[in-house]
Amino acid sequence: QRQMCIRDSLRPAGRDVPAGRAGQLGPLCGLRPDRRRGDDSPMKQVILDVDTGSDDAIAIMLAMAAPSLEVLGICTVWGNKPVENTTENTLRVLEAIGADCPVYRGCPSSIIKHLQPNRRKIKTAEKPGRDRDGRPPEIHQDLIGSVPSTRRPEQTDAVHFYIDCLLRAERKVTVVLLGPQTNLALALTICPEIRKNIEEIVIMGGGKSRTNATIAAEFNIFQDPEAALIVAESGCSLSYVPLDATHQACVGPAEIRRLRELDTAAGQLAADLAQVMLRAYRIIQNAEEVPLHDALAVCSVIDPHVLRDRRFTRVDIDCGGDYADGQTLVDARAYPDKLPNAWFALGADGALFREMLFTYLSKLR
Ligand code: BDR
Ligand code: CA
Repeated sequence: QRQMCIRDSLRPAGRDVPAGRAGQLGPLCGLRPDRRRGDDSPMKQVILDVDTGSDDAIAIMLAMAAPSLEVLGICTVWGNKPVENTTENTLRVLEAIGADCPVYRGCPSSIIKHLQPNRRKIKTAEKPGRDRDGRPPEIHQDLIGSVPSTRRPEQTDAVHFYIDCLLRAERKVTVVLLGPQTNLALALTICPEIRKNIEEIVIMGGGKSRTNATIAAEFNIFQDPEAALIVAESGCSLSYVPLDATHQACVGPAEIRRLRELDTAAGQLAADLAQVMLRAYRIIQNAEEVPLHDALAVCSVIDPHVLRDRRFTRVDIDCGGDYADGQTLVDARAYPDKLPNAWFALGADGALFREMLFTYLSKLR
């Protein structure tokens, strides 16, 4: 009864779950016989959590194309753009490649940080340079492409989807977090029992020797440090794919050309998105290649060998609100103060990543 009350209070007004909805979630939640891939081994069931976003879009396409993955649902969250945009962008990607997967709209802001505006003042620097129109360079477009999606998100929101799906799952599910971790953090807080059905949480986020949002923090974790801390302390198996790894999984003009030459909707879309990122990276950091962060995280679910130098270590998140806000603290000492809680990858196999990118995207229309 109590759980119902908390859950109902989180449900956005006007988006009631119709009677029988839980039944409709059934087939998405491991209640059907295992789907099998070509070699007859069961597919890995995954939930994606995205703030689409250019690299998120490529990650979604890879996950939909991989024969070893069964995507049970895609949760959206604010981050690169407001949640209305990241949801619409996610639907547009699925439509472009003709893929069918339910999309659950998630949180529009952080759990706590947006209530403490002073914490945001740490990030004051404008991105350097201007694009051709005199505007600051954008790594992510507000909306992907020019054609609105004909599809709609599900009526259930992302937090309730996690709870319903993971409580009912008959085998363990891998959760892949590619944006701020707010949706899963709230689900874990409301219903900690869902942990029992989480195989692993794969996190694109953090950085030991590289950061981007601030001097100390990576963007996804900086956006909602408390959410990242809740996930870090959840007791679930964790695999971080941080900036140290993603900056070794880059594409440049040659790969973008090769994506275009696939001559498919997926290849075209991936090339356009990577091109937008590359244009911004050229202006901001004079770079000739660009990391596809979220795409590497999905590749690591398909084949962990794409990550290099993985350490099982202690990862904590700074929520102090000052210069280190959102920093991932990786305790690599021989005698860490707390027990290790996560795998943290310090590198990636760039050649294998690019091979996977072409192999899987070429399976799509
Ligand atoms: C992360 O931040 C976002 O802008 C990207 O989509 C990626 O998830 C990289 O720091
Ligand atoms: Ca992202």
